[in-house]
Amino acid sequence: MKSISLRVNGRLYNIEVRDNDRLLEVLRDVLGFKSVKMGCGVGDCGLCIVLMDGRPVNSCLVLAARSDGSEILTVEGLGGEKELHPLQQAFIDVGASQCGYCIPAALLVSYSLQVGKRNPSSEEVRRALRSVLCRCGSYLRFEEALKVAGRDERGDSEKV
Ligand code: FES
Ligand code: FES
Repeated sequence: MKSISLRVNGRLYNIEVRDNDRLLEVLRDVLGFKSVKMGCGVGDCGLCIVLMDGRPVNSCLVLAARSDGSEILTVEGLGGEKELHPLQQAFIDVGASQCGYCIPAALLVSYSLQVGKRNPSSEEVRRALRSVLCRCGSYLRFEEALKVAGRDERGDSEKV
């Protein structure tokens, strides 16, 4: 066992992990962040994506011990207690959420695009969003939501 400290959604956790524990299971089963989904378990589907120090990672591929000292963001930390993050609202407004299974990962990837790079190209957006497997095929709606949230942030009056 190894003692690690990690900050998840702004809160510090000191926990014991085994050498082979993955960040995915620690987040879901130890810390209770159920938005982090188990899909393929081998790095293909992107459903387990969280932001680690601001970058999207497949949490099924990260050993928990390697997350020592890191800052993790899951979708539980995206909005406030009483209000949704503008991206979450935009996902709702454009009808991006179908079954909802991939939405936490899609939101986090969208958020990293929004924060990391002002005005990413359509190609960059498309490539990043394709890292999350959406079986419902909501990719065009994800792109639309990003545009809507970006416009709202800038205060543009143009509507979809
Ligand atoms: S569960 Fe991690 S990439 Fe599929
Ligand atoms: S909304 Fe159903 S898998 Fe993406």
